[in-house]
Amino acid sequence: MILVAQVSDTHFDLGARNAERAERAMAFLAGLRHKPDAILVTGDITDSGRPEQYAQARAAFAAANDIPVYAIPGNHDDRAAFRTTLLGEPASTAPINRSFRIGELTVALLDSSIPGEPSGLLADDTYEWLHGVLAGAPADGPVLLAMHHPPAHLFSPVVDEIALAEPDRLATLVAGDDRIVAVLTGHAHSSAATTFGGRPLRVAPSTASVLGGIWELDLPDHVMDYAPDPAVSLHAIDENRGVTTHFRTVPMSGWVGVQPA
Ligand SMILES: [Fe+2]
Ligand SMILES: [Fe+2]
Repeated sequence: MILVAQVSDTHFDLGARNAERAERAMAFLAGLRHKPDAILVTGDITDSGRPEQYAQARAAFAAANDIPVYAIPGNHDDRAAFRTTLLGEPASTAPINRSFRIGELTVALLDSSIPGEPSGLLADDTYEWLHGVLAGAPADGPVLLAMHHPPAHLFSPVVDEIALAEPDRLATLVAGDDRIVAVLTGHAHSSAATTFGGRPLRVAPSTASVLGGIWELDLPDHVMDYAPDPAVSLHAIDENRGVTTHFRTVPMSGWVGVQPA
């Protein structure tokens, strides 16, 4: 079993609250008896893309200790500051796409952000990059795709308006490659599950806040709920290519992990 954790929409804003919540989530994952093989952070790392916010993120992500952390941008991020301050790379506004392997599993993280826009799109360059990753991936190995913007309708009154554009192009790709076992996103600030291209689509919760479905909101007075504790996703990929996801709340007070006898 390969265990991939997902943390999303941390929204570092230079305040203590969101930083403490993201750090708590990382510390929870680092303290698990069976540690995740990797942690994906699926966008909206910062609230407004400032370099100081990425410095805050980098410090909090260090709580993951020796678990590798792979972050990609969301609509609240800035590619240049993301690169220079979080990744330690030269500034560039090109998409930040990243891939890595755990055994036979290939994980491809795609930059779905459009600079200056709240909605998402996978650029032609990103598709070209993804085709290269898939061409080099093991012929029988499972593949996870991760990005910020969900490509499917989620009955979310805010997010459905700023979802991934041109989802059919991605759906065709997903449906045409049976190695792709699931698509993982963030952006919705809600633990959600549906299907896309015939595969599971799992939407990670935010560590910062919760955005309900259309059935619970009283717009415009009540949009984001800041009361719930942060939460993370844990994806277990088994030898039959099944992907079991737990959406785990991480309490901000009390014990995290196994309570001592
Ligand atoms: Fe967000
Ligand atoms: Fe977002």
